[in-house]
Amino acid sequence: MGVRRLLKSIVPVAGSHWETPYVGLRRLVAALVAVSFVVLAVAAEADAAAPSILRPASQSAQDIRHLSLWLLVICLLVFVVVEGLLITVIVLFRRRRREEDVRQVYGNSNLEFLWTLIPAILVIIIFTMTIRSMGALQLQGGEVAVKVTGHQWWWEFEYPDGKVKLANEVHIPAGRTVNISLESADVIHSFWVPQLGGKTDMPPGHVNRATFLAATPGVYQGECAEFCGLQHAHMRFDLVVEDSARFSAWLRHQGEPAAEPVSDQAKRGQQTFLSQPCLGCHAIRGTTAAGATAPDLTHVGSRRSIGAGTLPNDPQSLERWIRDPQAVKPGVLMPAVPMTDAQRADIVAYLEGLQ
Ligand code: CUA
Repeated sequence: MGVRRLLKSIVPVAGSHWETPYVGLRRLVAALVAVSFVVLAVAAEADAAAPSILRPASQSAQDIRHLSLWLLVICLLVFVVVEGLLITVIVLFRRRRREEDVRQVYGNSNLEFLWTLIPAILVIIIFTMTIRSMGALQLQGGEVAVKVTGHQWWWEFEYPDGKVKLANEVHIPAGRTVNISLESADVIHSFWVPQLGGKTDMPPGHVNRATFLAATPGVYQGECAEFCGLQHAHMRFDLVVEDSARFSAWLRHQGEPAAEPVSDQAKRGQQTFLSQPCLGCHAIRGTTAAGATAPDLTHVGSRRSIGAGTLPNDPQSLERWIRDPQAVKPGVLMPAVPMTDAQRADIVAYLEGLQ
């Protein structure tokens, strides 16, 4: 029996030399493991608002977490066994003085069979678990359809009636299966709401589909999960899950044309907006602004953020964004349009009024 002979050959060597370094090493490894756990735990809990697959909010996300944790356990076991053997062998068979001849061992059929069989079994287990989870993630019977287009670096959401189009914020009704179609306008992006489901890539020229269902109303953070250029990290969106009545009211409101400005300042802002290059890229339904390359601003005042999750949506941030988009989000396609401070304040008043 090869393994037994191999182990036997280890024991006498072990008895005489290994105590001191092994104890030191064990302490070091234990300390490293403890520190890693503390760092991970602190990092995970530091921002309770951060989207985390460890806080799933849908059945799909729970299935994914379940699978991830099992994979983690399997990987940890493999890691501990392999590293344990490695460290043991390094310590036991390190070169010692006055010991020139080391017995060389070549080939061991039993060992080779064993370390082929174990990984093969592990791969089969992981494959089976993955296939089962993938099946569970395919939800049937989509009731709500949303078209998602990824841009550098923002999200466009469109509802099937063709009227409702908005950026970086999408609302869905709780407890109903949502079918999303995913496309890209430029490079590869990836749609991901960590608390609700898996990632779906968005390669240009190809429509991908995904389904998800969120049972509990709330706001979930979505992000781009594929590096897509300089501002990849600033490509986020809010996914708002609400009950059916609120969702229907929201959708109806979003379908309406933009509100007419009320205050004098907002009226001036509208005129300035419509006389500046802004309307070449942005659309505001109900006005002459019909640009299609940048976010639709029809109800921009109602959104939670600007610049795809870069800044909160408030007058100061909007002013800052319009004054110098490149300073806020370097590389973004929006240029700084030259205008006076007063004109900019007017535009901010107008846009914030577009609820
Ligand atoms: Cu889009 Cu990363």
